[in-house]
Amino acid sequence: MSAAPPPALDEADLRASLARHWSMNDDPDAAICPFHAGAKLHDGPDVFFKAGEAHVRASGLGGNWVVTRYALQEEVLLDPARFSSHLSIGFSRLIGEDWPLVPLELDPPEHALYRKLIAPWFTPAKARALQGEISALAVNLIEGLHGADECEFMEAFGRPYPVTVFMRMMDLPQSERPTFQGWADDLLRGATMDLRGKAAGAIKHYLLGLIAQRRARPGDDMVSSFIAAEIDGAAVPPDRLLGLCFMLFVGGLDTVASSLGFIFRELALRPGLQAQLRADPGLIPAAADEFIRAFGVVTTFRYATCDMDFHGAPIRKGDLVELPLGLSSRDDRAHGAPHDIDFNRRGKRSLTFSTGPHTCAGLHLARAEIRIALEEWMRRMPCLRPAPHGKIKTASESVWAIETLPLAWG
Ligand code: HEM
Repeated sequence: MSAAPPPALDEADLRASLARHWSMNDDPDAAICPFHAGAKLHDGPDVFFKAGEAHVRASGLGGNWVVTRYALQEEVLLDPARFSSHLSIGFSRLIGEDWPLVPLELDPPEHALYRKLIAPWFTPAKARALQGEISALAVNLIEGLHGADECEFMEAFGRPYPVTVFMRMMDLPQSERPTFQGWADDLLRGATMDLRGKAAGAIKHYLLGLIAQRRARPGDDMVSSFIAAEIDGAAVPPDRLLGLCFMLFVGGLDTVASSLGFIFRELALRPGLQAQLRADPGLIPAAADEFIRAFGVVTTFRYATCDMDFHGAPIRKGDLVELPLGLSSRDDRAHGAPHDIDFNRRGKRSLTFSTGPHTCAGLHLARAEIRIALEEWMRRMPCLRPAPHGKIKTASESVWAIETLPLAWG
C-alpha cells in the first residue's frame, strides 16, 4: 500500500512556511557588500514573506513579500494589471498625502500619457548632446583632486557629479547642490521615518516654489515644458506636476551616485579590471554595461491587485511585493558566475533599469554618465586602490549605496 500524501497546507500554514526574517541591516556581510549578502537569499524560497512594517508603504500589512529571482521579478514588472505601482514607493505618504510620483507610481493607461511627456528629454540623442558637458564636469571634478593622493570618492565625485548634471538639466543654481544632496540622503536613508518625512516635506516645498517661479518666468527647461504641456487637452494637474518634478529629483540624484560607488570600489579592489580598461579604452562601454548588470542598486515595490498563487506564494489583493533588483543581478539562474565582473560577458541583460512600462526613463543618461566617469578617471588618474586608513561604508535600503569610499592612488 502506498503512503498517503501529506495533507495540503492551508493558506495560513503556507504563509507561515514562507516567512523569513530578513534585514540587510542585521547582516554584517551587507556592510561589506549588499549584493553578496543578498544573494544568500537564493538558498531559500524564490518568494518569501518578510514580517515587519519598516516603511509607511507597508503599514497595516504586517510585512511584505520579497521576490528573489530574476525570472519572477521580471514577471511582476511586466504585469502591471496584477502588480500595481500606485503609491508603491510612498514618499508622499511620508507626509500624510497621496500624490503619486509621476510616472513611476502611475499604472497604465494613465502612465503612458506622462511617459510621453518626459520622453523627449531622455532620448539617446539628448544624452549624446549632453556628453560634452558631462565630460567637462567629470574632468573638472577630477582636476580638483590635483596634488592630492587620496580622496573620499563619494564626496569628491560620486555624489556631486550626477547631482550637477541633474541641476543643469533643470536649470537650477549650483549653490543649492549641498542642500539637494542632504535632502536626497535623508529621504532615502534617514534614520527615522520622521527624518525621511521632513526631507520629503522640504523637497515638496522647494519644488512647489520652483513650479511657481517657472510659471511666472518660463525658460527652456524641463519644468517649464511640463507647465506648458497639455494632457488630453488640459493643463497638467498640480499634483501630477509636483509628482513629475519629485520623480526627476529622486530618479537622478542617488541612483547614479550609488552605482558609481560600487563600480569604483570594484575597480579599486581589482586593479586587473583597471588595467584592462587602461589598455583598451574601447572596452569601456561594455564595462559600463557589465557593471550595470552586476549592480542593480534599486529596490522597487508593487501592490497585488488580486488574489493569486504566485509560484507557490498565496499573495492576496493589497499585499505589498518587494523586488530588490540587486538579487536579480546576482541570480545564478540568469547569469553564469554572477558575482564575477567579466567585461566580455555575453548577454548582459539585467533588471537594473527595471523592465516593462516603468523601464527607467533616464537609462541613456545614466549609462552615459557612468561611461564618461570611467573614461575620464581611467584616462587621468593612476591606479586606484582603497585608502589604507579609510573605511568603506555601505547602506542597503531602497537604493543600495556606498556612503563613503576612501580611495588612494599613485
Ligand atoms: C544608474 C542609475 C539609475 C538606475 C539604476 C535607475 C533605476 C531605475 C529603475 C529600477 C526604475 C523603475 C522602477 C520600477 O519599475 O518600479 C527607474 C525608473 C525611472 N527612472 Fe531611473 N535609474 C537610474 C538613473 C536615472 C536617471 C539619471 C534619471 C533621470 C532623471 C532617471 C529617471 C527615471 C524615471 C523618470 C523613472 C520612471 C519611469 C516610469 O515610471 O515610466 N533614472 N529607474
